[in-house]
Amino acid sequence: MTPDPDVLLAVRDLRVLIGGRHILHGVDLDVARHGVTALLGRNGAGKTTTVRGILGLVPRAGSVLLDGEETVALPTHTVVGRGIGYAPEDRGIFAGLTVAENLRLAERRGAGEPAYPLVHELFPELKQRARQLAGTLSGGQQQMVAIGRTLLNTNRLVIADEPTKGLAPRVVAEVAGVLERAAEAVPVLLVEQNLAVVRRLAGTCVVLADGRTAHRGPAQALLDDAEAARRLLGVGHGPPAAASRTAHASSPTAEADS
Ligand SMILES: Nc1ncnc2c1ncn2[C@@H]1O[C@H](COP(=O)(O)OP(=O)(O)OP(=O)(O)O)[C@@H](O)[C@H]1O
Ligand SMILES: [Mg+2]
Repeated sequence: MTPDPDVLLAVRDLRVLIGGRHILHGVDLDVARHGVTALLGRNGAGKTTTVRGILGLVPRAGSVLLDGEETVALPTHTVVGRGIGYAPEDRGIFAGLTVAENLRLAERRGAGEPAYPLVHELFPELKQRARQLAGTLSGGQQQMVAIGRTLLNTNRLVIADEPTKGLAPRVVAEVAGVLERAAEAVPVLLVEQNLAVVRRLAGTCVVLADGRTAHRGPAQALLDDAEAARRLLGVGHGPPAAASRTAHASSPTAEADS
């Protein structure tokens, strides 16, 4: 089979078995070489496990081709060394270290000169707050550290797992803007439940259900199909204001920012 030149990461029949339980039974997904590919699905559908399977953090079978090269049998450090940056679901921030220290710890040997100019251009706040303890940052600022770390190294792909989870609408819009700019520098696989963010950022999407791929296609088309969105995602349309560029002005509500 000739590889699709537009596909950076091709996952086929990914299976994960943990403690005798089949968590994934056949995930297929393609990550586009440009922009944002969204990985969607209800709670417990297997999104995080898919990401962990791609990274080799859980035992997996099937095929994971990065730029046409098989990585499914490689250890995590080798997979990551091939150029995958990861912002995990819980952000993985060291609360007792400063912003600068968190970033410094992410510098990867052999990944070129750390891209501080890019990170500071995208997130001027991280430069201003370099000496602040990361545990004292807001949820949105911590997410910037998590995403900033993935951009520090020359990566071929960035995977962000629910970066807007638990954030106030105003902060969701801010983080979405950051991801939008990040995706200009490097392709992003975005696990996301906020459909307004998906609508704003994603070109294509993959929907998981019960550990399998249930749908693949253009994100816009899925979101415009209320019946399919309800069936596959279990939700109606979210308010688009939460992630729109004008949300700063139009969304006065600032809920608790975790
Ligand atoms: N280490 C594990 N041991 C046992 N079961 C697990 C493990 N990790 C995940 N699971 C189970 O596998 C299923 C998929 O979990 P996963 O975290 O991948 O879903 P998700 O789509 O990321 O969900 P969420 O939207 O809640 O983040 C769930 O039923 C979960 O309880
Ligand atoms: Mg998850």
